[in-house]
Amino acid sequence: MTTAMADLKDELRRIPSLKAPLPDMDFSAFPQTPHQAFAIWLQEALEAGVREPHAMTLSTCDENGWPDARVLILKNLDERGWHFAIKAESPKARQIATEPNVALTFYWPALGRQIRLRGPAALLPAEECAADYSERPQGSRASALASQQSAVLSDVTELTRKLAEADAFLIANPDFVAPGWQVYAVAPIVVEFWQGASDRNHKRLRFKLSSDQSEWERVRLWP
Ligand SMILES: Cc1cc2nc3c(=O)[nH]c(=O)nc-3n(C[C@H](O)[C@H](O)[C@H](O)COP(=O)(O)O)c2cc1C
Repeated sequence: MTTAMADLKDELRRIPSLKAPLPDMDFSAFPQTPHQAFAIWLQEALEAGVREPHAMTLSTCDENGWPDARVLILKNLDERGWHFAIKAESPKARQIATEPNVALTFYWPALGRQIRLRGPAALLPAEECAADYSERPQGSRASALASQQSAVLSDVTELTRKLAEADAFLIANPDFVAPGWQVYAVAPIVVEFWQGASDRNHKRLRFKLSSDQSEWERVRLWP
């Protein structure tokens, strides 16, 4: 092992995790649905100054059963679930088309909180996808239009050129909606709220949708 790698191990051991003070969570006073509970925790994350609390990891599986994961932005939360927006030709969209069951994970270090969701991702109606695209800033719309997301970029000048072309096109056609802009909602069947503690006596609450999907069953989990 190189010296730099050995130093890295020591460095990692010195980094604190779940450093006090962290909130002492009382799950008995928590709401009856994970949607309401998420809204409360998101508000508390904002008040605690958590940076980008709407950033979440979307985990998918490809056609060979290989897991994949990346960070996305949470765009909305309603009775249909947790929304995100992606391009139809991207690897993650192709993976969801093959296997719609996904996982979402949030981590908010300042509060020592993690939220995990598992469930199917469903494509929202075309008019909602179009509305989401139209609400994006000009630069984001141009990027979504120009990018062959996750394909190999062999010539960086091609990207610059495509972006400039997309920008000019959208200025001339401000109502244009890029084909393949998709918004999905994840309707979870399981949601877990995890409150970390500096003494490692973490508190965990799992919401599970009942088999007839009529109510959320709540159980505490061992740390
Ligand atoms: C903070 C943050 C927010 C992101 N938000 C999005 C997003 O909302 N939609 C998106 O398609 N990619 C987003 N990305 C980029 C993705 O993580 C990913 O690199 C890209 O979508 C390609 O993923 P894929 O190859 O698995 O399809 C974001 C990345 C970061 C770090």
